[in-house]
Amino acid sequence: MEQISMPVDVPPTRHLPATFRPASATSGAAGWQVGGNPLAGLAEALGTPVWVIDTGEIRSRLRRLFAACSAHWPSGARILFASKAHGHPAIARLLADGGADLETVSIGEIEAAVAAGVGGDRIVLQGHGRAPDDHARALAHGVRRFHVDACDEIAPLAEAAASAGVSVEVLVRVLPGITADTHPALATGVAGSKFGLPEGPDLDQAVGAIRRAGNLKLIGLQLHTGSQIHDPETFKATGAVAGRIAADLHRRTGWMPAVLDLGGGLAVPYGPDDAEPNPEAWIEALARGFAEGWPDAPATWPQLVVEPGRWLVATAGCTVYTILSVKHANGCVVVDGGLADNPRVSLYEANYVHEGLLPGQSEGGRAWRLVGRTCEEGDELGTVMLRDPRPGDRIVGWVAGAYHYAMASRYNRLPRPALVLVEAGRRALASRRERPADLLATEIPSPEWSLG
Ligand SMILES: Cc1ncc(COP(=O)(O)O)c(C=O)c1O
Repeated sequence: MEQISMPVDVPPTRHLPATFRPASATSGAAGWQVGGNPLAGLAEALGTPVWVIDTGEIRSRLRRLFAACSAHWPSGARILFASKAHGHPAIARLLADGGADLETVSIGEIEAAVAAGVGGDRIVLQGHGRAPDDHARALAHGVRRFHVDACDEIAPLAEAAASAGVSVEVLVRVLPGITADTHPALATGVAGSKFGLPEGPDLDQAVGAIRRAGNLKLIGLQLHTGSQIHDPETFKATGAVAGRIAADLHRRTGWMPAVLDLGGGLAVPYGPDDAEPNPEAWIEALARGFAEGWPDAPATWPQLVVEPGRWLVATAGCTVYTILSVKHANGCVVVDGGLADNPRVSLYEANYVHEGLLPGQSEGGRAWRLVGRTCEEGDELGTVMLRDPRPGDRIVGWVAGAYHYAMASRYNRLPRPALVLVEAGRRALASRRERPADLLATEIPSPEWSLG
């Protein structure tokens, strides 16, 4: 990391609640700074848009979550970071160094973690839509725990384990059938969802097949009720369904889960009216639900696994944009980013808060539509309070650490932004801004008709 001089810190005084920003955010004459780094300086050095991640914020959230698990779940817990929330290798390494393991959904996510030095024994591969060679490739990287999402995944997994001469641990993904308090596209645990197996014949069949397969060891159940969930009662319902199904399987088959993976999904505040959810309430609700679902569970409960993505990384991130034009008649301010670096607004009608980078840019201003530069009417980033916006002014978008880098596209052939990590006055470039040549690198401008 490059060492730079520490700017003078001033407590934040701007109009938005502090819950949107990492704890290190301060505002001074030179504008917002995060992790001891002035955002204006980062924008100048790296161009805009630029993604900034405060690694100290991620570390402190992970510590808080470990403490919440120790306080509220009696038999130990393992935290898996859901890599889909931020797939950069350096983020995988940061979380692994803090004690988290990784939940992955593809060989690409596994290879990112392995490239950063995370061992396969710290990585779990989810089911759902596995390609034929995924099992063998994951096993070759040392992955030894898999979540099975469909009966069809079991035989190929057993065959791959047998060919590799290893035994693997398996959790079955159960569809909890819970309607979560979230956007429909994020309610992955709702009855009829494509994920997991509902209680009934398919689940029984999967449990039986895994238990009979030579190289597979059924160690637990996995349930994920959805994403961006605020209400602890939804998590209580997840714990209760897990407890009830575990109790039922135990009564009928004698099998007892050693591990209960109750998914991720804790929300973060995106809109001005959103409360700050709390991880202690999350784990406490899961435990309360499990006790209710299985009142006479054995004294030693299964080990808890949770799979947070968003809550660990979202608030640690922000994006700095530059205003390209101000259209007074249309009431909008056009910035040099948009749905290519943050597709969540278009996908989920997600809320985002933005403000001027410098003091005085936002205070006393009026609401403008902040729109992205791509050719889509829906490329809107939300509203922003600005007093006198001008081309060249900088805007900061908060809560940008989850599902931005991971979901970014090159729509309109816009190069993906640089990603910089900051902490305690230091900064480290994690991804340089893409160049037009990067976009052309895999393309064959004049394809030859020779493929037969
Ligand atoms: C199975 C599973 N686990 C964990 C997560 C992480 O969810 P979140 O980022 O909301 O914590 C997801 C998100 O889609 C998921 O599908």
